[in-house]
Amino acid sequence: MSKMIFMTQADIPRQYYNLAADLPFSLDPPLHPGTGQPITPADLAAIFPMALIEQEMSSQREIPIPEEILEIYALYRPTPLIRASELEKLLGTPARIYFKYEGASPVGSHKPNTAIAQAYYNKKEGTKRLVTETGAGQWGSSLAFACQKFGMECKVFMVRVSFDQKPYRKAMMMVYGATVLASPSPTTNAGRQILAQDPHSPGSLGIAISEAVEEAAGRDDTKYALGSVLNHVLLHQTIIGQETKRQLEMAGEKADVVIGCHGGGSNFGGLAFPFVRDKINGAKIDIVAVEPLSCPTLTRGKLEYDFGDTIGMTPLIRMYTLGHQFMPPGIHAGGLRYHGASPLVSKLLEHGLIRAEALPQNDIFKGAVMFAQAEGIIPAPESAHAVELAIREAVKAKEEGKAKVIVFNLSGHGLLDMQAYQDFCDGKLEQEPEITLDRSVAKAS
Ligand SMILES: Cc1ncc(COP(=O)(O)O)c(C=O)c1O
Repeated sequence: MSKMIFMTQADIPRQYYNLAADLPFSLDPPLHPGTGQPITPADLAAIFPMALIEQEMSSQREIPIPEEILEIYALYRPTPLIRASELEKLLGTPARIYFKYEGASPVGSHKPNTAIAQAYYNKKEGTKRLVTETGAGQWGSSLAFACQKFGMECKVFMVRVSFDQKPYRKAMMMVYGATVLASPSPTTNAGRQILAQDPHSPGSLGIAISEAVEEAAGRDDTKYALGSVLNHVLLHQTIIGQETKRQLEMAGEKADVVIGCHGGGSNFGGLAFPFVRDKINGAKIDIVAVEPLSCPTLTRGKLEYDFGDTIGMTPLIRMYTLGHQFMPPGIHAGGLRYHGASPLVSKLLEHGLIRAEALPQNDIFKGAVMFAQAEGIIPAPESAHAVELAIREAVKAKEEGKAKVIVFNLSGHGLLDMQAYQDFCDGKLEQEPEITLDRSVAKAS
C-alpha cells in the first residue's frame, strides 16, 4: 500500500472541467436586481473581466488552462492524495479513507486554484487592482499571493470577527503586499450603513462582499474577485477532482463516498463535480456536502432567488439561502459563515445528485483532533467538517461490515487557526445556537 499517491507534474490536468455541459437539466439564470430580467455579460462587465464572464456562462465541457496559470500551479500542484491509514487503524474500520490535501498550497488551502486564474484573466484585460472579501483569511491571502505574482494591487475586506480571531492571516496578506481592512468598515456606504445599525457588528461574508463590490463598481482601474459560489470559481477548482480521480485510478480504487465541506461550494464542487459526472453516467457514489449547524444553508435554507451580498447589490441568484440578511454566529470556521450557496451545488441538491449534512462545532473539533493525532495534520476548522463526516461514514462502514472507499477534501491546514484549537482544548467552545428560520429576519437566537 502507498501512503501518499503522487502524480508527476507532467500529469497536471491541462483543462478545467465544466459540469454545466453534462447536466441533465438547465441552470436558472442570475437576474438583474433592478429589472428582474436575466443578466447580460454587459451587466457584469463593471466588476468582472470578459474572459471570466464567458466562463461563468459557458457550456463548453473542457476549458484549456493557459500556460501562465500552469506555471504558477507548478509551485504546488499536483497535491498529494493521502491514505488516512493511521485514522483507519484508530477507528478499526474496514473502510479505506483517502484525503486530497489542498493544504499543501503555499497559502495553505485550495483557494489559490481560482485566485491564480482570476488574477491572470484580469491582468490580461488590463485590470490594475483587485478587491475582495475574506472570511477566515484563506481566500484573501490566496488572492494577495496571486495578485503579487501578476504585479497587481490587492485590497481585502476581512470579516471583523476573523480579523480579530486570526491576526496572522492578516499579516500573511500584508507579506504578499495586500491592503487589509476589517469589515464592516467606515470606508464604504455599505459598511457605514451596517455600522450605523450596530457599531459592534461582527461582520459577515455577505457584508464584506457588499463593500468589495461597491468599491469595484466605483473605480475604473479596479475589478472584483469572488472566492466561491460562482460557476467560474467552481470551474477552476475542478482541477482538484480531476487529479483525485487520476490518483484513485493509480491506487486501483473507486470512490463510494465523496465528501467536502461547504461554505459557498468551491472546494466541495472542485472535488465533487468530476464524480458527479460519473454519477450522471450511472456510477453509484454518495456525494455529501457538510456545513455548520449554525449556518445550515443547504440543510435548512430555502431554494429561491436571493442576493449574494447583505445590502442587495449583486445579481439575484437561485440558490439555497438563509436570507441575505442572515447573521451567522461567530464560529471559528469563518469560511463557512455564508448565507447562500453555489447555484450549481444548489441545483445538484435539488435534483438529488448530492446530499447535505450539518454538524455542530464541538463535534467537528473532536474529529479534527482525532485526525491530527492519527495523521499529524491539523485541519482548518472549515475542513474539519469534512474530516468529522468521513469519520462518521467510516464508523458506519464498520457497523455495516463494508469496505467502502471514502474520499474527502482536506481543503486547508489549520496552523493559523490555533486560537480555535486552544479554545476547544480549554473547553471554551460554546454550544452554537439553534437557528430560527423566520427567513425575512433569520437570525441566531
Ligand atoms: C480551508 C477552507 N475550506 C473551505 C472553505 C469554504 O469555502 P468553499 O465552500 O468555497 O470551499 C474555506 C473558505 O474560506 C476555507 O478557507
